[in-house]
Amino acid sequence: MSITYFEDKRVFSLDTAGTTYQMQIGKGDYLVHLYYGERLEGTAESVYTYNANIYCPEPMDLPPGTLSPNMLMLEYPASGTGDYRTPCIDVIFADGSRALDLRYSAHRIYSGKQPIEGMPSAFAGEKDIQVLEITLKDTVKDFYVTLVYSVSEDTDSITRSAYILNKEPEPVVLKSALSCCVDIYGGREYDLVRFMGRALMERELIRTPLTQGKLSSESVQGLSGHSSNPFIVMCGKNTDEKNGDCMGVMLIYSGNFTASAELEPHGNARVTAGIHPYGFSWRLDNGETFCTPEAVISYSSYGFTRLSDNFHRIIREHICRGSYSLKRRPVLLNSWEALIYDFDYDKLMSLADAASDCGIEMLVLDDGWFGKRNADDCSLGDWIPNEKKLGGTLANLAAGVNERGLKFGLWFEPEMISRDSDLYRAHPDWCLQCPGRTPAECRNQLVLDMSRPEVCEYLYNSISAVLSSANIEYVKWDMNRPLTDVYSAKLPPDRQGELYHRYVLGLYGLLDRLTSDFENVLFEGCASGGGRFDAGMLYYFPQIWCSDNSDAVDRLFIQYNTSFGYPMSAVSAHVSPAKSHQTERSMPLETRWITAMTGAFGYELNVTLLSPEERKEILRQTDFYREYADLFLKGRYFRLNDPNKNDVAAWEFISDNGETAFVGAVQRHFSPNNCPAVLRLSGLLSGACYDVSEAGRQILTGVTGDVLMKTGITVKYRREEYPATYFIITKEKSVNNE
Ligand code: GLA
Repeated sequence: MSITYFEDKRVFSLDTAGTTYQMQIGKGDYLVHLYYGERLEGTAESVYTYNANIYCPEPMDLPPGTLSPNMLMLEYPASGTGDYRTPCIDVIFADGSRALDLRYSAHRIYSGKQPIEGMPSAFAGEKDIQVLEITLKDTVKDFYVTLVYSVSEDTDSITRSAYILNKEPEPVVLKSALSCCVDIYGGREYDLVRFMGRALMERELIRTPLTQGKLSSESVQGLSGHSSNPFIVMCGKNTDEKNGDCMGVMLIYSGNFTASAELEPHGNARVTAGIHPYGFSWRLDNGETFCTPEAVISYSSYGFTRLSDNFHRIIREHICRGSYSLKRRPVLLNSWEALIYDFDYDKLMSLADAASDCGIEMLVLDDGWFGKRNADDCSLGDWIPNEKKLGGTLANLAAGVNERGLKFGLWFEPEMISRDSDLYRAHPDWCLQCPGRTPAECRNQLVLDMSRPEVCEYLYNSISAVLSSANIEYVKWDMNRPLTDVYSAKLPPDRQGELYHRYVLGLYGLLDRLTSDFENVLFEGCASGGGRFDAGMLYYFPQIWCSDNSDAVDRLFIQYNTSFGYPMSAVSAHVSPAKSHQTERSMPLETRWITAMTGAFGYELNVTLLSPEERKEILRQTDFYREYADLFLKGRYFRLNDPNKNDVAAWEFISDNGETAFVGAVQRHFSPNNCPAVLRLSGLLSGACYDVSEAGRQILTGVTGDVLMKTGITVKYRREEYPATYFIITKEKSVNNE
């Protein structure tokens, strides 16, 4: 059993293969956090001390000196009754009062995880997952919070969400409703790792020691954003890839969020995550429930590699759904960096011909195929193929591509509207805009009000009409601007605070319908590159365009950092032109290939302009990829050399049975008189013997896994710009190997 209730001690223990999470119905029936860490035998309640500290208020129902809420480790802290740290919930009752005092009222344990209605969640519908529900009730009002924990033993993870129920006769207004809180003793010993950055340089890893006050990763842009990610890691000061403890918290959500760590004055830390309270309010009438997005929490006492591995498996196996979640994706060629808006039927067919010669399996037609769009200033919303430009129907175009042996895919940007569009002319009120104020444009576009059912219905009908009209096997779902003027013509003034979240719910509802109706279509997310790279989107799409920066050296950093929370199978990565559109840096084809290949792999350059040798080279690359695709899709991933600290960046994939490994290495910098870089491998079978080849040439035979892991392999410095290499490590077949 992964969930145990020790009745005598009133302790709940949530156990996975390697971890234990414990909480207790404590004094005064507060639900207090006891422990989260390496698997524990016994209960941690013996070390728990109650404090009533100086200047900290105490509840009146307990004898003086028993406890102060401000000193408790709480599972779901509320505001207004003496806990001054970040609350999970803040509510205004009909009488205007704003105090909440949540105490234990009931619990139940059962098997089988229910999906959260209308929102993405992990382990949805999985029968063997154990679930614990604990209901807390306010001491005065008829107001309840049910905390839901589900436990996944094999991925060492726990999910959390909260259902907030108002049974008061009058409505209440939620001003904040976070998904989870984990209070930690001794917070001064911790660092917080966040993934910040900016457009074209997303998810920069920032590690900061906790000092008194609050550090957070957050977005108020209406989407998870380029400059923050709903994934944070708390770790010990000395935690590195293989050693030390760390806890990751990831929200399965795509809108405004906050994920923070607060070090309170007495030295304990509070980690919280959920919908950002900025601009948020939610009215709950009598009998209504609000459900928070789900958070996934995982812990590792073996450093970041194990933690990442946990999240990779959760996302790959328990969040991504659909026919492609664990299936090899076709190698694609995207038309954007190849042709931008400048294409017609003949150009696309030439591209398809050349792609087919290169072993590429799908042609994706990016922006510019609909309405009268030949630049980014019009037609968003008019999802009608421009048959003049395409030389006929989409069905005809897709057939032409299919005849050349390729699948066909298409770009959409459904959540947006151009002022110069038939849709805007017909429904000017369908975009987000405040009364009497001209809404701000960004990339010449406005944002559709996804909270309105008629808007989602229009999008469902127009997108499904396009998808049904031709053999379209892939969709790139783009979203190219943050939200402003967040006001809906359809919501009453006192409910405008619901709009940010209702936008996300409208989007999720639409994605749910489209991805189930077109279940064989491969969907890819995008938001001006990696502006909405989160587990919420990965519930609908198994892969996301990781960044509009496809410069291979910059991608080393972006992909390295992204891999802390997300599996490479979710990281869409393309070989783009020799001279990068974004940085104007030139890089060898081999380097661009090695960097892109281990993600959701494709090309994004005009292959018709390549020499016959280069095309032959791409054919070799795509053949190689097909041979090892399963390893990249399902293998365990190790960050070998941090590009921030090493001239040679390197990473490794290894099959679950430890018999085959791939190592990619890129020299991102060279200086004279350098020594070779040494890469110590990971995950091999210590006693087994392996053969090692570098770029197709055998370089070692019969070396034990132990030697490869302890002494490593070397990458020679080359006096060239950005050379790359790769190694294949294969276990020898001999019977003496075991
Ligand atoms: C965004 C995407 C790009 C491309 C363009 C098309 O910038 O991130 O990949 O699709 O839109 O307009």
